[in-house]
Amino acid sequence: MPKRSCLAIVLAAGEGTRMKSALPKVLHKVGGLPLIGHVLNAVDAMGATRVAVVVGASADAVETFVRSRTPHATLHEQRERLGTAHAVLAAKAALAEGTDDVVVLYGDAPMVNAATLTKAREAIAGGADIAVVGFRATDPTGYGRLVLDGRQLTAIVEEKDASAAQRRIDFCNAGIIAFRGEGLLALLTKIGNDNAKREYYLTDVVALAHKAGRKVSAVEAAAHEAAGVNDRLQLSHAEGLFQKAMRETAMEEGVTMVAPSTVWFSYDTKIGRDVTIEPNVFFGPGVTVADNVLIRANSHIEGAAIAKGAVIGPFARLRPGADIGREAHVGNFVEIKNATLGEGAKANHLSYIGDAEIGAKTNIGAGTITANYDGFDKYRTVVGEGASIGSNTVLVAPVKIGDGANVAAGSVITRDVPADALAVARGRQEDKPGWARKFRERKQAEKAAKKAARKP
Ligand code: UD1
Ligand code: CA
Repeated sequence: MPKRSCLAIVLAAGEGTRMKSALPKVLHKVGGLPLIGHVLNAVDAMGATRVAVVVGASADAVETFVRSRTPHATLHEQRERLGTAHAVLAAKAALAEGTDDVVVLYGDAPMVNAATLTKAREAIAGGADIAVVGFRATDPTGYGRLVLDGRQLTAIVEEKDASAAQRRIDFCNAGIIAFRGEGLLALLTKIGNDNAKREYYLTDVVALAHKAGRKVSAVEAAAHEAAGVNDRLQLSHAEGLFQKAMRETAMEEGVTMVAPSTVWFSYDTKIGRDVTIEPNVFFGPGVTVADNVLIRANSHIEGAAIAKGAVIGPFARLRPGADIGREAHVGNFVEIKNATLGEGAKANHLSYIGDAEIGAKTNIGAGTITANYDGFDKYRTVVGEGASIGSNTVLVAPVKIGDGANVAAGSVITRDVPADALAVARGRQEDKPGWARKFRERKQAEKAAKKAARKP
């Protein structure tokens, strides 16, 4: 197939009233990414040459997100919300530039699959003027019904305008329509608003095209791809569908999960082969996990890179900028932020390591804390290779510990420690022989005397 140019128009002017939120609907997240981000990903994967996003009045936050995510997208404002055809026409300037294909899709349907968009475009390349993506709904209520005459799609009838017989149709409009670019603008401007909602329906384009003798076809997609988000319940359903898909892909790619339904991924989580993930693990955005890593139960991981063979958790917290080296170990109640743990280094118990660099094979004892913040600025801690930091040490940054150095347990380190040195920075122990016994005997004698005095 020769490469055809394609304009994707994403409709996102809806108010999202039912979300009951100060945040515009399309910015609510599924898998850590705004709904419209998922749609833009699919649009990219389909190979759109141009992207136009239709936004409502005062949708600054949506504009900001789209500009950063897809800098080449054009933004079009639909001031009044007069229907989906009216919304598409808000992007008239983009349409007028002329592309081989035009694909219209909704910003609040995050499960859309690039393969389906491609299938619809293939129908156009194969001679259709319009290709509507349909799906078989278990409950078609609220969706536009696809009216077929043999294999020809003759109309889409919206629920409110449908006859009783049409309402029984279970083949529904997913909300994704591909068009031959040529002649589309003329067709769109013919759409009226003589219907139950007094809206300009994009779906009316089908009957108009059919009557004009154009070829309109339907391509079928899986029902979950049509899942739209109008309220928080549907948002949670979309999240569920997304997580299910992510878990299945991970397992197909060689990840073992003991309890897949308790593991939560982000849209960009990357996991290698022969990785085992125990129950109740959460991945926020920006995580990369290499091969042969073991992530033990109840760990919370975001913005982190984990190298081959590392062991994380149980109960570990990796925050943005955590860079865990090969075969390194991060154990229970250890928090790592903006810090590198070298190859084979270990921080196994109860630590905070922030703004730090820990060398290969270094052992961080239980309870070690990097004091990285003075209330105004953050400072770095650098620990060399093969060092041993004793339990309950405070490393007051900025500070450097040399290669092979030992820090005695309970130290508060405020100055650099040379390589191979032992640093002890705590009160010196003093023993007073017999002191405890004498103290105990005196107390016991006092108690006995009091008791005797109380007796009549
Ligand atoms: C629409 C379709 C229906 C399909 C269903 C799939 C029409 C007329 N109907 O119905 O056939 O089965 O989606 O979910 O298209 N929007 C604007 N500006 C407007 C109106 C809508 O930007 O003036 C945007 C909305 O933000 C939303 C999308 O277009 O993202 C769909 O609009 P909505 O009113 O939700 O259409 P439905 O009634 O769900
Ligand atoms: Ca809708």
